[in-house]
Amino acid sequence: MDLSTDYMGLALRNPLVASPSPQSYTLDGIRRLADGGVGAIVLYSLFEEQLREHAARTVRLVEDPAESFPEAVSYFPSVVEEDGDPRAYLYLLERAVATVDVPVIASLNGVTPEGWTDYARAMQEAGAAAIELNIYYLPGSPEVPGREVEQRHIDVLERVKATVTVPVAVKLSPFFSSPGEMALRLDEAGADALVLFNRFLQPDIDPEQLVVLPRVNLSSPADARLARTWIALLRGRVSASLAATSGVEVPADVARYLLAGADVVMTTSALLRHGPYYAAGLLDGLSSWMARKGFDAVSDVRGLLAVEHEADAAAYERAGYVTAMRAANAGAYTYW
Ligand SMILES: Cc1cc2nc3c(=O)[nH]c(=O)nc-3n(C[C@H](O)[C@H](O)[C@H](O)COP(=O)(O)O)c2cc1C
Repeated sequence: MDLSTDYMGLALRNPLVASPSPQSYTLDGIRRLADGGVGAIVLYSLFEEQLREHAARTVRLVEDPAESFPEAVSYFPSVVEEDGDPRAYLYLLERAVATVDVPVIASLNGVTPEGWTDYARAMQEAGAAAIELNIYYLPGSPEVPGREVEQRHIDVLERVKATVTVPVAVKLSPFFSSPGEMALRLDEAGADALVLFNRFLQPDIDPEQLVVLPRVNLSSPADARLARTWIALLRGRVSASLAATSGVEVPADVARYLLAGADVVMTTSALLRHGPYYAAGLLDGLSSWMARKGFDAVSDVRGLLAVEHEADAAAYERAGYVTAMRAANAGAYTYW
């Protein structure tokens, strides 16, 4: 069975990619992900904001003798001079690239224009096969216009593209008025891949303790539907590769995304739930399904159920919606 796949110009042994998670915090974790069989690994995100906080804390520590040891000054020399310390991330990236035999993609969440470009350049120098921009920008102020949020994504992408030569992917939020147009704009601005979709942290509230709980929930297969619909709509309309992220639990979920038109299918929750070696099971299941259906290669599967190029996407959506509503009203719906 030929599972080999092209993802934004990178030759992968298969289309299953480990998306950012705590499993890539250590070299051992990264090694386990590769041994599990994935085709590529996207490291957890380097957050510029955290580096700045870390630097600020360090400066306070060093400047306040009552709270510090004299060695602190020599222990953090460059951190005090610079605005953060990405060295641990870059060192891990460098070792990961030297250790595993699959492409290692770095993930960046910047804040300042220099942060995006400087860290992206450093990631490339450390050997990243590509860079994924985890823009994750939630405008806290209700006065920020949508167009401004969209433009920010374009600006970040253009800056990073002008700085590095490795492929650049953009991990997108589904929360645009027109996610399709946003995807087209990013494609035009040079995105080598679009990763659909980022999941935002949606904190819970504990009514007994009266506190906000900053929780990250693992996904379930139903979470895949939004990304899958947009991948089916965008297949053939953008030249960027399409990566699916959200809701993979069983091999059929991987198959569904490929049928919709994903170039690669990413997974975090399933690997956190079942361990990194679960990837081998997902891939075996995918191969068995392909054999049963008479497919020889992933390229035979990809996009088979994407929306036709010529189809009016709005009509397609309306039709799908109306069909679903009719089925629901006729009692032919399933819920769980
Ligand atoms: C614990 C945890 C940590 C994550 N950390 C990151 C991160 O650092 N950067 C990022 O872009 N996405 C991060 N994600 C999001 C995942 O990469 C992935 O896009 C998301 O969980 C949806 O995929 P899934 O349904 O397979 O979990 C994280 C998710 C979880 C559950």
